[in-house]
Amino acid sequence: MTEQSSLELEENAGKENQQGPVTCLGLTFENDEVRRAHFTEELRKKLQDPEFRKIEGFPIGSDEDILNLSDPPYYTACPNPWIVDFIAEWESAKCKVQSAEKPNAPCTLHPAPYHREPFATDVSEGKTHPLYKAHSYHTKVPHLAIVPSILHYTEPGDIVLDGFGGSGMTGIAAQWCGSAPKDYRTTLEQRWKTEDHAAPKWGLRHCVLNDLSPAATFIAANYTLPFDVRAFSSAARKLLNEVENELGWMYKTLHTDGKSRGRIEYTVWSEVFTCPECVGEVVFLDEALDDASKKVADEFPCPHCTTLLNKRNLERRFNTSPDSKLSDTWKHVTFRPILISYKVGKQRYEKAPDAEDLATIKKIADMPFPEEVPSNRFPIEAMYHGSRIAPKGFTHIHHFFLPRAAQALGTMWRKATAHPDARIRHMLMFFIDQGIWGLSILNRFGPTHFSQVNRQMTGVYYVPSQISECSPWYSLEGKADRLPKAFQSNYAHPSGVITGTGSTACLQTPNQSIDYIFTDPPFGENIYYADLNFLVESWYGVLSNANAEAIVDKAKKKGLPEYQELMRRCFAEYYRVLKPGRWITIVFHNSRNAVWNAIQEALQAVGFVVADVRTLDKQQGSYRQVTSTATKQDLVISAYKANGGLEDRFRLTAGTEDGVWYFIRNHLGNLPVFVNKDGKSEVIAERKEYLLYDRMVAFHVQRGVTVPLSAAEFYAGLAQRFSERDGMYFSPDQTEEYDRKRMTVQGVEQLTLFVSDEASARQWLREQLRQKPQTFQELHPRFMKEIGGWSKTETPLELSTLLEQNFLRYDGKGPVPEQIHGYLSTNWKELRNLPKDDPTLVAKARDRWYVPDPNKASDLEKLREKALLKEFEEYKQAKKKLKVFRLEAVRAGFKKAWQERDYAVIVAVADKIPNIVLEEDPKLLMWYDQAVTRMGGV
Ligand SMILES: C[S@@+](CC[C@H](N)C(=O)[O-])C[C@H]1O[C@@H](n2cnc3c(N)ncnc32)[C@H](O)[C@@H]1O
Repeated sequence: MTEQSSLELEENAGKENQQGPVTCLGLTFENDEVRRAHFTEELRKKLQDPEFRKIEGFPIGSDEDILNLSDPPYYTACPNPWIVDFIAEWESAKCKVQSAEKPNAPCTLHPAPYHREPFATDVSEGKTHPLYKAHSYHTKVPHLAIVPSILHYTEPGDIVLDGFGGSGMTGIAAQWCGSAPKDYRTTLEQRWKTEDHAAPKWGLRHCVLNDLSPAATFIAANYTLPFDVRAFSSAARKLLNEVENELGWMYKTLHTDGKSRGRIEYTVWSEVFTCPECVGEVVFLDEALDDASKKVADEFPCPHCTTLLNKRNLERRFNTSPDSKLSDTWKHVTFRPILISYKVGKQRYEKAPDAEDLATIKKIADMPFPEEVPSNRFPIEAMYHGSRIAPKGFTHIHHFFLPRAAQALGTMWRKATAHPDARIRHMLMFFIDQGIWGLSILNRFGPTHFSQVNRQMTGVYYVPSQISECSPWYSLEGKADRLPKAFQSNYAHPSGVITGTGSTACLQTPNQSIDYIFTDPPFGENIYYADLNFLVESWYGVLSNANAEAIVDKAKKKGLPEYQELMRRCFAEYYRVLKPGRWITIVFHNSRNAVWNAIQEALQAVGFVVADVRTLDKQQGSYRQVTSTATKQDLVISAYKANGGLEDRFRLTAGTEDGVWYFIRNHLGNLPVFVNKDGKSEVIAERKEYLLYDRMVAFHVQRGVTVPLSAAEFYAGLAQRFSERDGMYFSPDQTEEYDRKRMTVQGVEQLTLFVSDEASARQWLREQLRQKPQTFQELHPRFMKEIGGWSKTETPLELSTLLEQNFLRYDGKGPVPEQIHGYLSTNWKELRNLPKDDPTLVAKARDRWYVPDPNKASDLEKLREKALLKEFEEYKQAKKKLKVFRLEAVRAGFKKAWQERDYAVIVAVADKIPNIVLEEDPKLLMWYDQAVTRMGGV
């Protein structure tokens, strides 16, 4: 599609929602309401089909609630049955555009050759963009961080998928490619030019979004479907005004001058405790808050008996009140209003609640609880954070709202959901649902914070001892101003993004129909999405089906293996729907290494080949991320689905040397050739021999094919067939490109290697000796510094052993080896042009260790492998669990056992080593998973 046609699409964006005939999936309707009514009836019929409702991850909700939330066929709050139709329509449109503009160009149904390298820049931009901020969601990836990846991997009209789509940022990014403002385009084009990147092709990309959570997909759909911004803006204003007219009296307070009336912005409530010594009542904030410094003290004296009190020795004071929603009594911790922040005119004031304020609060508490506020029970027993809320008495949705907040939210929800225009109705719900957390008792009072809006702790249900009960206007007025501005660029296209709700393990997408996948999957146990979304989804009446959630959660009896299996099934779907030769980008947030390994293993197990792993610098972490310990940075993983040619050829040559080199040649072709990192050539880890070996082994193993070469043979063959530059390997045409670009920069940016075990120590030594052959004495002090973080379970190894098993020492006999000669003659003027047996040169070279040439390395490697397998034999015989062992020996033993189909040995030795080692080592995990699968599960 040309720029011109994509621009035409932009101009049309948003118009489909206006009055007048609209076309959708080949049908023409009088207007958009009629289109919606038609497809709603179609969806209603579908919902009555029991087979449809059996699809994995189908949300929990009545037909009517699902229909109310949906905007079919573009968005369904259940699996979207129209995805196949849209994809067919998009593909044939692409064909038509191509053949009209370039009659001789191949159509996409008979695709042109496609080639891309992994996109090798970090994505960390866009957190302050108004669109990103228009609606919050847990762990959002900004759309502007995704746009460059989509532009890189796809052409206009291509189809992008995100199965863990969350708030729909990938969908916005896909549309943004067609509607980005001029200044954005210019900046990106200039940046890419300086990075030597081919110019982007602007134009709309289509996108299929999916998520398990209806809360997420509802946000995503509203973000990506066009609407009349002006109509929404006035509807939002009207709604707030009407609520003010009806409920304004609840937020009026008498100013301290005794005459004027103020408008309450927020009321601070404090939890009430009991002193453990004198049983006197302690209003927490009255005692703990220092008015002058605004600090909350950890410890303070009891106002009655002066005993020192803190959160650990204070006793909760429970109150039992009628629960009209449940027609029962309700026992819960006690809160009391202690401070009111209000405005008279433009001036802000604070005061303690007076008798009139307390009477108003009492009057509201006596009113019937609004019908709109849901009263369903949290699945406490199956929730990780259940133990944080239930002991305080908060078990049902309505318990989370103080009476006045419940009246406000209930009224706003009633008005939003009653709006006659479905599209505006949905946008009003999108607007109001942002107040649900912030108007609940989860909203912490921050004495030093200027704003009290949406101050809940993220990623967790935490009821604080100090609450800010905000007024609806204080909470939402700003949003009502900002939303129309954020959406005014009108980037959305009527059938640009299609959204469905269900599990990615069961996508409604045809085979090989997707051009690119960008995805940010749930990462283990950091964020409990289904639980967290329960609060908002209860208002919709459509809940996430938590059974299908890919998560590590003890409360749901899901451990790492269950998570890995769920991820494997989701990735298998990704693999199925992606076109061969195409790419997937996976964002992984910092978490335990074991979770990262589970993701990698799942990804490779279904057939993807990893080609690049990079860090993603996200400045603000959510609650769980900041406290998690492992990998400090977020990662971006680029992997590809081997093209049909590679798979076919590999099938024919599988298990032979030819197969290995065919894979490597193909794989090198998929790796970046040159990365300019701050004016230096960055060492591309994936081009290092050990990673190439690992990828080759994984490719074989995941396809159940014997690996025909040992590491030593592989390294020798690699050096024979490919050129080495700066410790990386290149195919002939890439070598020429690398050399050319390398001349334009100053030096090489080496990889940072952390030495923690034998394998990393070998790599570290290899790097040191490759750059400079050194003596033991030179190496030793630096080696000792590096091994500070040696793993507790790894057998300690002397430097001398590592050197002897992996490298060669020049003992002064015979000519000086090339590797040492080259180094000395480059660095010492006086040693230049000397014959290799010159005594001065020999003296300088003696006792230096160096990296052997590939043939000698092969001999060494064989000896080492023998030693490792001998050690593995001991592990096999061991009767007890292994506490300290040589991981390399276990890896070598597992590989041999797998080749010999001795799966029982793998499982038996795996049982002897600590679980954490198995989970955190990608190679062991691969062999182990393979063995378990082949034994039919253990
Ligand atoms: C890290 S979040 C994605 C956030 C997204 N990048 C954004 O910007 O909003 C992961 C999402 O995966 C969803 N999820 C968990 N298990 C799933 C499954 N089996 N199928 C589909 N989605 C799932 C969660 O509901 C959550 O929204």
